[in-house]
Amino acid sequence: MKAGRTKLAPATRRLVAEVYGSLDYEALGPVYCYEGGDEFWRAKRGPCARLGSRVALLLRKKLRRGGRSLYVGAGVSELPALIMETQELGRAVEPYNLRRAEVASLNRACRPISIAFQAVDAVQAKGRFDHLWMVSVLNDPERFPHLSPLSYGRGNPLTLDPLKFDRERRIVRALVARCMGKLARPGLVTTTTEEVIWVAEWCHRHRVPYRVGKRYYPTALVGDPICFIQIGKS
Ligand SMILES: C[S@@+](CC[C@H](N)C(=O)[O-])C[C@H]1O[C@@H](n2cnc3c(N)ncnc32)[C@H](O)[C@@H]1O
Repeated sequence: MKAGRTKLAPATRRLVAEVYGSLDYEALGPVYCYEGGDEFWRAKRGPCARLGSRVALLLRKKLRRGGRSLYVGAGVSELPALIMETQELGRAVEPYNLRRAEVASLNRACRPISIAFQAVDAVQAKGRFDHLWMVSVLNDPERFPHLSPLSYGRGNPLTLDPLKFDRERRIVRALVARCMGKLARPGLVTTTTEEVIWVAEWCHRHRVPYRVGKRYYPTALVGDPICFIQIGKS
């Protein structure tokens, strides 16, 4: 497939547009919003495809052909990267997401392109991957209500519950350890500026060299900036 240096290949762009065009936004509304889902998606689907495609283009330069990517907590935002990887690099992708309704919607839209999301914990993924994508998972306020405010630098010493915080920190550390254990070296991690510390901590503990990219890239839905970390390259 022919790909330009500054744009995704025309076939990839067409597929990205088709998949975003066929998503059931009515079903996705309640997944992302308590109310106002229609308005949310009217405003966000364009930026989501556009910013996601920009990150997909960057990834294309960093990943080799024919490898495997583990996507932890992949949703609507990750579609351009997933499509690029399969279409332009011939890579295998395994996206995991615990929200059943979102997974069902994504799988309906992705059926023609054979990308299958799984509604199970990503730690169940088998084998080795040379790319781990984990974006806005470890700081998710829904899953980690006691840890998330600290991740965003908004912790309140008056209301912090240290026991609940500690329990969530253990879960996050365990998730990072299980996922990083599946990463081949050298490998690549795509994550957010708020989540880098968990990956860095794991690397320090395991004496694995890592290099965090200096540039950050905006995202449309959660809004946490994305960065890339090279793992295991001295
Ligand atoms: C805040 S959302 C972020 C979604 C998407 N990455 C984005 O940036 O728009 C966090 C997602 O991570 C998923 N998640 C959390 N822990 C997970 C795990 N262990 N395995 C798979 N998915 C997980 C949740 O189900 C949820 O869909």
